[in-house]
Amino acid sequence: MCGIVGYIGKRDVAPLLLEGLQRLEYRGYDSAGVVITSPKATGLKMVKAKGRVRDLEARVPKRFTGTTGIAHTRWATHGAPSDENAHPHLDADNKVAVVHNGIIDNASELRAKLIADGVEFLSETDTEVLTHLIARSDAEKLEDRVREALRHIEGTYGIAVLHADFNDRIVVARNGSPVVLGIGEKEMFVASDVAALVSHTRQVVTLDDGEMATIKADDYRTYTTEGSRTTASPTTVEWEAESYDMGGHDTYMHKEIFEQADAVDRVLRGRIDDRFSTVHLGGLNLDAHDARKVRRVKILGCGTSYHAGMIGAQMIEELARIPADAEPASEFRYRNAVVDPDTLYVAVSQSGETYDVLAAVQELKRKGARVFGIVNVVGSAIAREADAGVYVHAGPEVCVVSTKCFTNTTVAFALLALHLGRIRDLSVSDGKRIIAGLRQLPAQIEQMLEREDEIKKLAQEFAEAKSMLFIGRVRGYPVAREASLKLKEVSYIHAEAYPASELKHGPLALIEPALPTVAIVPDDDLLEKNRAALEEIKARSGKILAVAHQEQEKADHTIVVPKNENELDPILMGIPLQLLAYHTALALGRDIDKPRNLAKSVTVE
Ligand code: F6R
Repeated sequence: MCGIVGYIGKRDVAPLLLEGLQRLEYRGYDSAGVVITSPKATGLKMVKAKGRVRDLEARVPKRFTGTTGIAHTRWATHGAPSDENAHPHLDADNKVAVVHNGIIDNASELRAKLIADGVEFLSETDTEVLTHLIARSDAEKLEDRVREALRHIEGTYGIAVLHADFNDRIVVARNGSPVVLGIGEKEMFVASDVAALVSHTRQVVTLDDGEMATIKADDYRTYTTEGSRTTASPTTVEWEAESYDMGGHDTYMHKEIFEQADAVDRVLRGRIDDRFSTVHLGGLNLDAHDARKVRRVKILGCGTSYHAGMIGAQMIEELARIPADAEPASEFRYRNAVVDPDTLYVAVSQSGETYDVLAAVQELKRKGARVFGIVNVVGSAIAREADAGVYVHAGPEVCVVSTKCFTNTTVAFALLALHLGRIRDLSVSDGKRIIAGLRQLPAQIEQMLEREDEIKKLAQEFAEAKSMLFIGRVRGYPVAREASLKLKEVSYIHAEAYPASELKHGPLALIEPALPTVAIVPDDDLLEKNRAALEEIKARSGKILAVAHQEQEKADHTIVVPKNENELDPILMGIPLQLLAYHTALALGRDIDKPRNLAKSVTVE
């Protein structure tokens, strides 16, 4: 999705902005642009290009100097990817420049009015409307011009505005799309994602919705869109610039798969309470009294986070014996759901910015529900909107395809399930058993990743498949769903996930040698049932790859995964399938970190 970066200070701004844009590339985009000025300059200088940041860089002229600027990577919504539609957008006098993330819902109506008033548009974007509105204001201060323009806007925005007549400042505003200020020594940064600024400063101020800020080289001020001052103190970002580097791996996806043992170690750190065989979840704000009143848990998330939620719901039912289910937040928000006061709602999001999840949280809160967040990015919109929550501490995930955040989210759910369970009927010995299982996870992950070569060989075979079936039963089913999503999004091979129990109700018709099946076969009480499904597939000459705790006779190949406690097995069983998706995509020459048509944080509808 779109990205914003801005700088004001003494340094040469263009290289800084281009570096910032490169750090935002992982979010997905189709064009980029930059506009700069300096205190002594009389105007704005702008360059834009369809394509990658390197295409933009190639167009930047030699004498493109300045000390203040804003830049953008665009993900097309209104108008195709093109030089003209790339941001920044300028007004007719080349005085106002705007970069914008989000969507202006009433853009066509505003555009029609402006055209009727004689304004000429140079792009098809919704953002250009905002530029002209700011340019038409005759308020004395830039802040008031921006404020006046925003009053006409319906929709979501994170914006940064530069004005040739006010070139000692950048004005920014947020409503539904993140804006973060980076506080430096006599220099200030602005970005839509801390990734763009952590190599320069780790002191940040995250704006709230309805907040604006003026940044100058040595000062910043925050206030509401109505003009009242707000107090926003800087916090320190825990992620370091190096966490965004590739660290010797060829892709971020590979790096992030291999970071999982450390990441799991982090989500567990400081949270296990051996004395009472439970866990401390500081951010949860749920005392035992309230926890006992919870009659249901409803988990909401999208894509991979939804799958982590499905695993979480099973853990909560098994360990805490509270009815729980997961639903795509993108569906939930549109179905006028019955909101029940005794239900604990849990919103799951790696980025903490996914619009469908955020909208579901806002709807729930409006109806008086209590919402917990399980989120990776500290200070993100969902983390701020939720009443309480748990951070998953996976570290920054740069690859568009989620791996380590998925695993850490499932571990966070195990912690929540254990916590709720031990307040209710989970025994001390079961608590101990789960804790021992959790502690084993990092070493077991390492063990599994050592089998990369074996999985790589298998991937060469699977790269030839046109389509694949993933099956699992109960604990294995969400694992199958996630593995199928991973494969399709990164390799573009069609894949479908089905409960193994449903095979005979339809999908068996598909089985033939050219359709490989990946079967999740944990050593649990359903082992024999799963084996029966393998028999059924084999009887129809289907090729089978099993992910299991022991060799499966009916499978053509078994990836043997270390056994943990039954309830925790799903956390581990998906990991070899991340590697399978990775190596299949590699064999097919795919753009692994930036699969086509996908973006890292889906901040629009
Ligand atoms: C898949 C993937 C997506 C995200 C989904 C939600 O690998 O990354 O399916 O899981 O877009 O994103 P978050 O978790 O940021 O809310």
